[in-house]
Amino acid sequence: MENTIPETDPLQRYPRKDASWLIDMLQDVQEIHGYLPEAEMERVAEYIGIPVSRVYGVATFYNQFRFQPFGEYVIKVCRGTACHVKGSFDLLQTLENELGVKAGDTTRDRLFTLETVACIGACSIAPVIAVNEQFHGGLTVKSLQKLLRTYKAKAQKTEAEHEPVC
Ligand code: FES
Repeated sequence: MENTIPETDPLQRYPRKDASWLIDMLQDVQEIHGYLPEAEMERVAEYIGIPVSRVYGVATFYNQFRFQPFGEYVIKVCRGTACHVKGSFDLLQTLENELGVKAGDTTRDRLFTLETVACIGACSIAPVIAVNEQFHGGLTVKSLQKLLRTYKAKAQKTEAEHEPVC
């Protein structure tokens, strides 16, 4: 099993059997994949020589690590004070209901990832959400539902464009 890891593997940067580098290794893996795939965590465990349950234990302790890939659209709901006062909780609940996921999760079709963030620096247009890097402010539940429909339609259009033509 010693030679299963290719030369270019980022784990090669770290000494084998040294668990003190575990967090750095997981950060590298996440940088490459965007999240921590199960197989990669098993590989890290094997490289260090510790049980995979310990790798999971460490990874789940830190909220910097993700266990699912991001969706095509990453929706960040601001939960800072100004947005909270202006109803961001209702926006979050609406998104959770409409998408069928909780904050931190990705929809099964991998179209949307829902997240909450602290103040994203646009308090003057609170309540604000960001979809990928685009901000949408002054939202109400109604305008949010409309906005979500727009993104769903966009996603369907993109999907249709990528479907193979027979
Ligand atoms: S509190 Fe939401 S942008 Fe500042």
